[in-house]
Amino acid sequence: MNIPSFGLGTFRLQGQQVIDSVRTGLELGYRFVDTAQIYRNESEVGAAIADSGVPRSELFVTTKVWLDELSGNKLIPSLKESLRKLRMEQVDLALIHWPAPGDKPAVAEYLPQLLEAKRQGLTKLIGVSNFTIRHLEQAIAAVGAAEIATNQVELHPFLQNRKLAAFMREQGIHLTAYMPLAYGKVMQDAVIKRIAEAHGATPAQVTLAWLLQQGYAVIPSSTKRANLESNLAARGLTLSDAEMAEIATLDRGERLANPDFAPKWD
Ligand SMILES: NC(=O)c1ccc[n+]([C@@H]2O[C@H](COP(=O)([O-])OP(=O)(O)OC[C@H]3O[C@@H](n4cnc5c(N)ncnc54)[C@H](OP(=O)(O)O)[C@@H]3O)[C@@H](O)[C@H]2O)c1
Repeated sequence: MNIPSFGLGTFRLQGQQVIDSVRTGLELGYRFVDTAQIYRNESEVGAAIADSGVPRSELFVTTKVWLDELSGNKLIPSLKESLRKLRMEQVDLALIHWPAPGDKPAVAEYLPQLLEAKRQGLTKLIGVSNFTIRHLEQAIAAVGAAEIATNQVELHPFLQNRKLAAFMREQGIHLTAYMPLAYGKVMQDAVIKRIAEAHGATPAQVTLAWLLQQGYAVIPSSTKRANLESNLAARGLTLSDAEMAEIATLDRGERLANPDFAPKWD
């Protein structure tokens, strides 16, 4: 089973706003929804999915286990609670949201619990998020690279994460790009705007096409129907090698998601 390449992000979206975003996204043809325990919107995501009438078998749902649940034996009960909120018996993908700060507990302690959750049928696939090369090495040692369906990390034209991406390619670990639009900043970039104009496309579409053409999954979010619709249409856009290379020059190591508990980045 593969991770679909185009998902709907739900970070920051709460209450009716997340219900509307997911409902509209599903109407428009999105079939992959990304949530997390810490987003405190799993109940709303579950309600929107249940009301949509889209068969569960056509959907791909990801949630992420929060830091508080990594110690002791809390991980599996916390995932069961996520499933209750999401109103489903199984998610398609469960991720460790962030590596535990200071390796307390160590990857080798909590990642096997996520694998056990998979064995119990609580999730079809398991993976990680915000893992550095060092954490991925520990994850590979703990469960094997083949079990790690993805590492979901921040990646957009201004933060291209080349070292990590190269390591993941070597190991055959798939990459999901979060904040693919640099939280809207790509809309102001002169190079991306020029390429967009040349294609009669939007800067968001150009950015998403650039990520998709590199084999990454993308999970942009939007509260607006028009943006949700045009973003999805990025799947039909193909950039030239020269355009791909030009966007590659925009890397400036600009990291937007960098909380105080973040690991030492590659
Ligand atoms: N694993 C992690 O630690 C982690 C961290 C951060 C995010 N994520 C995931 O990644 C998803 C995406 O990240 P994100 O939501 O932070 O940022 P993003 O998708 O890069 O950007 C979203 C922003 O871009 C705007 N936007 C979207 N489409 C647009 C368009 N076509 N034209 C103009 N503006 C547009 C949205 O505004 P409007 O609402 O006005 O369209 C919103 O302000 C999250 O929702 C979450 O699921 C994961």
